[in-house]
Amino acid sequence: MTKADFFASILPATLNPVEQAHAYAPSNIALSKYWGKRDAALNLPCNGSLSISLGDLGTHTTVTLAERDLVTLNGEDLPRDHEFVRKVIAFVDHFRREQQLPLHIDTRNTVPTAAGLASSASGFAALTLALNQLFRLDLPDPTLSAIARIGSGSAARSLWHGFVEWQRGTRDDGRDSIARPIDSPWRTVRIGLLELNRAEKHTSSRDGMTHTAATSPLFAVWPEQAERDRITIRRAIANEDFHALGATAEANALAMHATMLAARPLLTYFQPETLATILNVQHLRADGLALYLTIDAGPNVKLLYRAQDEGDVRRAFPEVLCINPFAAHSA
Ligand code: PMV
Repeated sequence: MTKADFFASILPATLNPVEQAHAYAPSNIALSKYWGKRDAALNLPCNGSLSISLGDLGTHTTVTLAERDLVTLNGEDLPRDHEFVRKVIAFVDHFRREQQLPLHIDTRNTVPTAAGLASSASGFAALTLALNQLFRLDLPDPTLSAIARIGSGSAARSLWHGFVEWQRGTRDDGRDSIARPIDSPWRTVRIGLLELNRAEKHTSSRDGMTHTAATSPLFAVWPEQAERDRITIRRAIANEDFHALGATAEANALAMHATMLAARPLLTYFQPETLATILNVQHLRADGLALYLTIDAGPNVKLLYRAQDEGDVRRAFPEVLCINPFAAHSA
């Protein structure tokens, strides 16, 4: 199914907007990862994934009817040919189709730039929510998740706070490849962001997934392992079993990176500091600290620990940015 067909199947023939709408969506970190697409146009994944959202760290987006299209990012009006503008306008055009509805899209990320986090997940999730309100679509959550997914796969998971699970789905139109929140009272898991290297990402996650799936002999075993990890992590959340959650999340991330290392030619997002940190976390764990890590398509490391161990984590990593995903959300 094409994107145009997908949007035609869920949108009314004519949009009937209000003047302005605002939405917020949190960033998220996958504990079991999405890596590999079974449909590149609709961002349908080879395997399901499970994430934890980052509370107040995310994206605020305001959309307003305007004279002409304008995209503002963190207070700066961007030129039309900017890559971010092209992506945002292409996404909005899926909604507008032939209708003339110029918009001012004002986006502000609360994720500190120094955190080394991608903002595409929260960005597309916030834009989806804002457009749903602006065009008075009143779409149900599963449809909103499917729309956000088309902007960026991991955006399907950024519509909610807390733990969120994205089902792989089996349908060609992706209507069942959607995320939903996991109901859990567990509040003590914490994330530590370690920015190790600020170099620009050399390979987008889209290109990295395509290359890995096409050339890595290890990719054949990845989707099934990732599905097993997702189920183990879901069970760990139900049992509030931090060691099971941390160990599985870490092994899952390293397995994903192993599929990339085995690609031909190899792909790696690791920098020397990444490997040094992996070894350091192993040592700290051997010394008794309940500390695990996960790594996405970049060189930076995200630590997983419990609130009670925050002092020890700060002592071991003075530069860490500690995040309580469950802090009262100001958004
Ligand atoms: O949503 P994308 O296309 O940026 O891909 C996200 C890929 C990972 O961050 C590595 C894994 C994940 O599940 O978020």
